Amino acid sequence: MKIALAADHGGFEMKNQIAQYLISKNFDVVDLGTNSSDSVDYPDFAQKVVQKLSTKEADLGILVCGTGIGISIAANRHKGIRAALLYDDYVAQVAKEHNNANVLCFGGRTMKIEDVLKRIDIFLAAKYEGGRHDRRLCKLDID
Ligand code: RB5
Repeated sequence: MKIALAADHGGFEMKNQIAQYLISKNFDVVDLGTNSSDSVDYPDFAQKVVQKLSTKEADLGILVCGTGIGISIAANRHKGIRAALLYDDYVAQVAKEHNNANVLCFGGRTMKIEDVLKRIDIFLAAKYEGGRHDRRLCKLDID
């Protein structure tokens, strides 16, 4: 599985820790920045991950900003994107089972790295349930 990661300045340290973790687990990781504490705009980095998903150059996206909120809002403006802010372990599981999320969002200033890595593991181990959820996902993209 190819995973595209990006962050703003509020999330770049956590993004780097996530990348290291995923590489250690043999995932194919594409790091799209940012790579310093210099101020940047989170929609630009959400866009980089969205682009990799839309061209199928990545199977899953991970985005980090200070709270995870701005970057999840930005990603969800794009058609076909289901970005989920994984604020607890239960949500990490249901984001896959019910929402079939394709972008995971985290808060670099609001979450602990050990919790984030655990939630990534929970999400990756979960299976999308389909069925009634297919109907709901089809209703998400409105022109
Ligand atoms: C940047 O200071 C901060 O606003 C951003 O990282 C994020 O928390 C926005 O939702």
